[in-house]
Amino acid sequence: MISHPLVSKAAIRNHYDLATFFYRLFWGPHIHHGLWTADESPRVAQQQLIDALAFSAHVTSGDRVLDVGCGMGGSSIHLAKRFGCCVTGITLSGVQQRWASRASRWQGCADSITILCEDVESITLAPSSYDVIWSIECTEHLFDKAAFFRNAASWVRPGGHVAICAWLAAHDADIPEKRSRVEAICEGFLCPSLGSFEDYRSWLHDAGLRVEVEYDWTEHVERTWEICAARTDRPWIKWLATKLDPAQRLFLDRFPSLLAAYRTGAMRYGCIVARRPL
Ligand SMILES: C[S@@+](CC[C@H](N)C(=O)[O-])C[C@H]1O[C@@H](n2cnc3c(N)ncnc32)[C@H](O)[C@@H]1O
Repeated sequence: MISHPLVSKAAIRNHYDLATFFYRLFWGPHIHHGLWTADESPRVAQQQLIDALAFSAHVTSGDRVLDVGCGMGGSSIHLAKRFGCCVTGITLSGVQQRWASRASRWQGCADSITILCEDVESITLAPSSYDVIWSIECTEHLFDKAAFFRNAASWVRPGGHVAICAWLAAHDADIPEKRSRVEAICEGFLCPSLGSFEDYRSWLHDAGLRVEVEYDWTEHVERTWEICAARTDRPWIKWLATKLDPAQRLFLDRFPSLLAAYRTGAMRYGCIVARRPL
């Protein structure tokens, strides 16, 4: 695992409070990579990523889902509308909580979705109360990932699934050149640490979960950053980011570094699904 000691929870919350509007403007209702198999639009590619995770996690009609790090509610709404799931979303950001709650009303699925503004690292939830713990690109922001998976293992029912998509450090990210690339990503994208496939496997295993699926989707997702770098490479956006907060400018400036981290093998993008034994 590669860590960056200077990332704080307040900075993560502040980033999502400030940047959510811009994510929506430049990328759409999901704050995650697209999954490409051909030349689909980014919107379709983002949808494909959700559908691939839902398929791997055996999401079925009526499942109770905890959407950890729910952003603008993109996954929560899709799971409610397409699969008839009953979803609880959690986000650290008050702006996102209001945004996702409104979006679920506009989409006519507010009855099936509850959005909480909470820290998943300190929340208390009833044991065995979910069929699926779902998290797309949130565990990167967690400070104690092993503890999160222990909690997730208690919140999911026996036989239920924990389904994760995450930015990963490469297995050999200790090599100085790779380490510095991953540390630059942790700093720019506010990740207190990035684990490898091996780290996630051991956290899940130690929490009593059985890993069923492990996909490396790096080559299918990296186009995200070509598109995002091109869409945000405008002087007024960089000017505005600098005015808002230097951390937002650093975030924008690190888009090319993320693409380079994937292409040099310093980082990977993973889909991991584990099951709580019966
Ligand atoms: C990259 S966004 C992903 C959003 C959403 N999963 C999606 O795919 O559109 C990361 C999300 O994690 C949330 N997050 C980060 N740390 C968190 C924490 N400790 N507790 C709850 N949510 C957290 C942020 O508020 C944000 O919604």
